[in-house]
Amino acid sequence: MSLAPVLPDGWTLVALESVGSTNDEAARLADRGVPEGTVVWAREQTGGRGRRGRRWVSPVGNLYSSTVLRPDCRAPRAAELGFVAALAVADIVPPGRSIRVKWPNDVLVDGGKVAGILLESALSQTGEVQHVVAGVGVNVGFAPQLPEMRYPGATLGGTVEAALEGLTAALARRLAQWRAAGFDGLREAWLAQAGPIGAEVDVRLGSELVRGCFAGIDREGALLLDTAQGPRKIVSGELLGQAT
Ligand code: BTN
Repeated sequence: MSLAPVLPDGWTLVALESVGSTNDEAARLADRGVPEGTVVWAREQTGGRGRRGRRWVSPVGNLYSSTVLRPDCRAPRAAELGFVAALAVADIVPPGRSIRVKWPNDVLVDGGKVAGILLESALSQTGEVQHVVAGVGVNVGFAPQLPEMRYPGATLGGTVEAALEGLTAALARRLAQWRAAGFDGLREAWLAQAGPIGAEVDVRLGSELVRGCFAGIDREGALLLDTAQGPRKIVSGELLGQAT
């Protein structure tokens, strides 16, 4: 493994020792016009952010990277990039380990969360996506465990540099697949690694808790549930558990 990680053709690495959040740094660069494939990587983050205002504990030893994407679409389709990123993470898990993707974009390995994905978009006044920052934190060497975590942690193993090379290569491949075939092809790949149809799940929607059976995702990535009150489509929420 080379000391300087090798990125896909045309991609650019911005390597930092320490930063508040790689997502903030990538957004700043994106606002200044850097092209798609600009990757901000830091050895540590002092203010790493997770979804829903949570923190992402980020000492040296794990991977923290944020990639600038310019998907040329409107906001609802940009959310599909969360599935692109989740599949890219699943792609770098070594063979022989059990992988499960959880809606919307968690990846569990051997039952533990191995990575977190934080997508942040900038929109024009007319709703066009100007850029998306795909922030990915991967537990490479250790798995921080905090009280607010929904899943136990898991680690990928290997080196941070190898994880970054693998992740960026997988991201480039999954992005190309998304551009060529749209969400449909990814949806099949995602479902093949998701929990079984019919498994009982709880989903938190603000203060509401919805219980139902997992019925897949639709063509826009919304979660489909069969509940006691009938079918339900959930565009944004937090999956709390999946029986199997
Ligand atoms: C989650 O809540 O699961 C998402 C966590 C995302 C963490 C990554 S680490 C790199 C990038 N920079 C951040 O501040 N957050 C993301």
